[in-house]
Amino acid sequence: MSGTTRSRVLAALRETEGYLSGQELCERLQISRTAVWKAVQKLTEDGYRIEAVQNKGYRLLSLPETLSAEELESRLKTSWLGKKVYAYETVDSTNNRAKQLAMDGAVNGSVVLAEIQTAGKGRRGRSWCSPPGSGIWMSLILKPEFMPECAPMLTLVMAHSVAMGIRETTGLEAFIKWPNDVVVNRKKVCGILTEMSAEVDYIHHIVIGCGINVNIAGFPDEIAQTATSLLNEAGRTFSRAAVAERVLEWFEKDYEIFIKDLDLTGLRDTYNDLLAGRDGMVRVLDPKGEYNGISRGIDARGELLVEQEGKTLRKVYAGEVSVRGIYGYS
Ligand code: BTN
Repeated sequence: MSGTTRSRVLAALRETEGYLSGQELCERLQISRTAVWKAVQKLTEDGYRIEAVQNKGYRLLSLPETLSAEELESRLKTSWLGKKVYAYETVDSTNNRAKQLAMDGAVNGSVVLAEIQTAGKGRRGRSWCSPPGSGIWMSLILKPEFMPECAPMLTLVMAHSVAMGIRETTGLEAFIKWPNDVVVNRKKVCGILTEMSAEVDYIHHIVIGCGINVNIAGFPDEIAQTATSLLNEAGRTFSRAAVAERVLEWFEKDYEIFIKDLDLTGLRDTYNDLLAGRDGMVRVLDPKGEYNGISRGIDARGELLVEQEGKTLRKVYAGEVSVRGIYGYS
C-alpha cells in the first residue's frame, strides 16, 4: 500500500468531526474496504489513535508527534509542493539526501525530512546542530527553468516563508535576519542552506535546506547565546508538522510570486516589514573594508541597501559580506 493512500485516509479522518464510515471512506477515496482497513492498521502502528466502532466507522482520537510523510502529505493544501515527501529516521544531511534523490529523478517540489541528521550542514562549512525529534530538518527539491543567477534569491524567499509560517502557527514575532536566518527575540530559530547543481546556463536542481528549532529545550554552550527554539520563546511545544505545513504552504505561494518577475519585486515590501534591524545602524563586515550605515531594506534583487552619510546607498551582496546589527540585533 502506498504512503499516499495512508495520507489520504488520514486527511479524510482529520477533516471529519465525528465518525467516518468505512463505506464513505471507500467511496470518497475510490479504494477497497481492505485498503481502508490496512491504512488504519498502519496508522495505528505509527502511533495514531483511531477508534473503530461498528455501524459508525472510524474516528481520529489523537496524533503522534511525528513528522512523517503521511502526517505532512495529509495536511498540505499545496498544488505542487510536497506532493511527494521522503521521510527518513536518520540521514547524514537532508540536503545531501535531497541532492541524491534529485539526481535519481525525484520530481520538482519533492520534500525530504529526517528525524535525525548525523552531519547536518550549516553555511560556510559549519555544522548544524540537529537533535533528534525536536526540530524540522527539511530540504526542498526544485527543478526550475530559470537561469542559475536567480537561484540565490530563493534563500530570501524561503526566509520570508519561514517567518510567515512561524508567525501564523505560533503567534511569535519572527523576523528575518538578512539574508537567510529567522530570529525570534534576536536569537536564531532557523537557518537556510541553498545548494545548486548547474551548468553556466542550466539548472539541474536546487536544494533548499531549512532547519527550524521547534521543541529544543537546550543548546550546546557554543551556540547557547545566539540560538533559540520556538519552545524556549513561547514556553510551550508545537506540532512540528503544523509548522512545516504552513512554511511549505507559504513557500509555494511566495515562489509563485517570485517566478512572475524572477526577482523579489512582489515580496520586497513584506520581506522588508519582517527585516530585523531595519532603519537601524548596521556594521558591514566587508573584507575590502568594514563600514557602518543604516539598513534600508532589500532591493528587488535581494541586496541589502545600506545608507551612509550623505544619503548614499551602498548595495550589500549576500554571500560576500556579513552584516551585524549595532544597536538592537546581532
Ligand atoms: C545555516 O544557518 O548555517 C544554515 C543551516 C541549514 C540547516 C538545514 S537542516 C536541513 C538541511 N540539511 C542540512 O544539512 N542543512 C539544512
